[in-house]
Amino acid sequence: MEFKEQLKQYQLLINNELEKYLRKQDCPEKVLNKSMEYSLMAGGKRLRPILIIATYEIFKNDKKQCMPYAMAIEMIHNFSLIHDDLPGIDNDDFRHGKPTNHKQFNEATAILAGDGLLNQAYMVISKDLINTKAQDLKDKLKVFDEFSSAVDRMIAGEYIDTEYEGKQITNEYLEYIHKNKTGALLRLCVRTGAILAKVNETDLEKLTNYAEKIGLAFQIKDDILSEEGNEEILGKPVGNDKKLEKCTYVSKYGLQGAKEKLDEITKEAVEELEGYGDKAKFLKELALYIQNRNK
Ligand code: IPE
Ligand code: IPE
Ligand code: MG
Ligand code: MG
Repeated sequence: MEFKEQLKQYQLLINNELEKYLRKQDCPEKVLNKSMEYSLMAGGKRLRPILIIATYEIFKNDKKQCMPYAMAIEMIHNFSLIHDDLPGIDNDDFRHGKPTNHKQFNEATAILAGDGLLNQAYMVISKDLINTKAQDLKDKLKVFDEFSSAVDRMIAGEYIDTEYEGKQITNEYLEYIHKNKTGALLRLCVRTGAILAKVNETDLEKLTNYAEKIGLAFQIKDDILSEEGNEEILGKPVGNDKKLEKCTYVSKYGLQGAKEKLDEITKEAVEELEGYGDKAKFLKELALYIQNRNK
């Protein structure tokens, strides 16, 4: 199957599955539920759940195993975006071509919608753990442990990203921000797919290397798009990193330098998967998609 077609199929699968977790009932907190749904179903690329499933599918066919974790990570991701856009963090008005959550609802609702999605992710996982057979429990608990640690790192990265606005930082610190705020979740996704597929240590290491590389590539590209992207296609503001004097690959190395780093790291990511041949075709193409995306 063509990459674009496969990507669309994965997105469709994830959107259909997410629908099942929406809370539609009439209740006093109906608006809170609506605001969670508003962001969760706003039109994200679904890259994180796709990474879990596509990694799993290098080794195994029954992707049902992955679905709760794929759902949970997309909830965490959307929690992070709602809070990232808040006035106290990036203060952005648009995401996915629509008003950000706090603009559409209000700040209190947006904060709580983020909290709600964060917690719902753990509810989804705990339900899956309760229903897990004894022989699979150890792997699932390992995934759960990595899951909570990756969320912890994402939050740490967001903190440093915010705290260092307008300040000069070293290259090491810039990498630390990227590794945590964006890299940690992407790394988690690949490792989750791999651990659920019960891969050996060598494969886990190779896939982790790939994940760390695309994680960095993903944020470098995000920095580049914040500088020279098309606002209409992106669905979120361009120029906001500059306005807030964020420490990014572009502010540190210039646009050209950032692009060179992106090309280099993408090439390395693809090389990590050489040994898997056609089975890893989608993941290789996904690295190129991250490099060349315009949204
Ligand atoms: C944006 O992530 C936030 C970053 C971590 C850079 P995505 O580009 O994956 O967000 P979606 O596709 O809108 O969900
Ligand atoms: C967002 O980073 C990272 C997380 C939400 C964890 P950015 O602030 O750079 O991403 P965008 O550009 O708002 O999507
Ligand atoms: Mg931010
Ligand atoms: Mg932001």
